[in-house]
Amino acid sequence: MLVEVDDQLIVLIHAAGHFYALDDVCTHDGGPLSDGPVDAAAATIACPRHGAKFDIKSGAAVTMPATKATIAHEVKVEGDKVFVKLCDS
Ligand code: FES
Repeated sequence: MLVEVDDQLIVLIHAAGHFYALDDVCTHDGGPLSDGPVDAAAATIACPRHGAKFDIKSGAAVTMPATKATIAHEVKVEGDKVFVKLCDS
């Protein structure tokens, strides 16, 4: 799901029992990752524009045409609340 944290758009992913948060920006050409499919088994999210895949845990680009990681943010779950701490890189 797409969420806003301190005026920044973040894609919050719930997969295999864990939460992950990435910048909602594909590093290839700015595509919105929140519109792309998540592959929980492979732990990736795909950009809907040209298909680059990113590791949902680290933000690393795992397939072309993206070559640079998107930013992964810290996630903490307390009870039924999910907290995202923004990271710079
Ligand atoms: S904008 Fe994401 S793969 Fe091109």
